[in-house]
Amino acid sequence: PKANRPIIAIDGPAGAGKSTVARHLARYFGLLNLETGAMYRAFALKAMRAGIALDDVSALLALSAQISIRLVPAEGGNLVFLDDVDVTGQLRDQCVTDGASRVSVHPPIRTWMVSLQQQLGAEGGVVMEGRDIGTVVFPHANVKIFLDAAPEVRGMRRYEQMGSAQSVEVQPEAVVRELRARDERDRNRADSPLKAAEDAVILDSTNLTLEQVVTRAEEIVQEKLAIA
Ligand code: DC
Repeated sequence: PKANRPIIAIDGPAGAGKSTVARHLARYFGLLNLETGAMYRAFALKAMRAGIALDDVSALLALSAQISIRLVPAEGGNLVFLDDVDVTGQLRDQCVTDGASRVSVHPPIRTWMVSLQQQLGAEGGVVMEGRDIGTVVFPHANVKIFLDAAPEVRGMRRYEQMGSAQSVEVQPEAVVRELRARDERDRNRADSPLKAAEDAVILDSTNLTLEQVVTRAEEIVQEKLAIA
């Protein structure tokens, strides 16, 4: 892709700060921000509503043929439209989070999703964030950043984000535990497991502030686009 309409891939585990970094980069460089995790989340929501077991691959595949998922970049992240209804507010529920990780292990579902995502980014000019963008969706992306952080740190950041928005009491240990379980599944699935592309720049945010991570990410993009 041309440097004036680049594809920037941001991959990494849950809670590493991908969404925040992707959003900042998109604004800074004037690109569209596309959150692929939200697509898996919307699909999981639809499957759960339809009462489909999340390991029933043929039923899931049939469902994929009659669903419309649209990402609309907005101020605080993507709005997600499932069959033309805005479901953004429901996608962060714990059961949807867990469901997204479960439906995303199935190769036929991934094939379908990857092709949707390739269509969305075909024109370039995007920051796409997920788990397999630099490895599978856009292996020729102009810039690939793999954002990582120690699991305890990611879990605690998640817990703090939840803060007062949470109606029921959540224990920090439970958040860390859930995050580890999801990591494990995302990293160990047979089809396109979460891992850094060979040519990705690894950005570890364990000991950095959010501001430092964003600044570093901007520098990486500048450098890569300058030599492209
Ligand atoms: O980024 P997220 O937390 O919204 O992603 C939700 C789940 O979707 C995650 O546990 C794994 C899956 N996912 C994926 O398999 N591939 C992607 N490109 C994005 C997300």
